[in-house]
Amino acid sequence: MNVANSDQISDLSGSFRHSMSLLAGSVAVVTTVVDGRPWGMTITACCSVSAEPPTVLVSLAKNTVTAQMIEAQGEYGLCLMGAHGIETAKFAAAPGRPKFLDDAGHVIPGPASTPSVTGAIAHLDCAVSTKVDVEDHVLFLGRVRAVSFPTSGSPLVYGARQYQRIVPALQLVGTEAEDHALAYSAW
Ligand SMILES: Cc1cc2nc3c(=O)[nH]c(=O)nc-3n(C[C@H](O)[C@H](O)[C@H](O)COP(=O)(O)O)c2cc1C
Repeated sequence: MNVANSDQISDLSGSFRHSMSLLAGSVAVVTTVVDGRPWGMTITACCSVSAEPPTVLVSLAKNTVTAQMIEAQGEYGLCLMGAHGIETAKFAAAPGRPKFLDDAGHVIPGPASTPSVTGAIAHLDCAVSTKVDVEDHVLFLGRVRAVSFPTSGSPLVYGARQYQRIVPALQLVGTEAEDHALAYSAW
């Protein structure tokens, strides 16, 4: 597997980044509207926070258009991506590039005011309930207003600096597990 050699990382920032590359996470695209058009950014920093009322959290770099638009509009969409959504995830992860989802045919029409994307296996329409500034990121807690399931499939995962898909661990007993990870592309 192509991960940095942890023995060669001496500074805290480098070792922190390396440790986080080992924290695999489900890939999501957080959506908003920019100039009246659907827009999305790829993230893994999100989680469920509360079941009653249903609440989720996303962590976004403050300097992104996405974070600024969500702050202004007070709502966002959280699209949980399937493995078949890798092209949408790659499109929405390009730093410094416009992320208009309709440009590349990555948007799914729906009733919610927050956009849903192609390759999403769940779309959570959220109203921002709390905003917390933390260093260079901002946390948006979102009260879930509606949930839909645009397509079915297994989750897209990002770990060890690669997009991956889930393989049940029991299938890997007695084999070299890393050989079985289906890596799609490097970040
Ligand atoms: C798999 C993956 C996960 C990411 N997770 C996050 C995240 O949780 N929060 C974040 O702010 N950026 C995250 N990023 C980076 C953003 O997607 C990327 O920097 C963003 O598209 C840049 O936006 P900008 O062009 O508006 O600056 C992630 C990127 C990838 C490829």
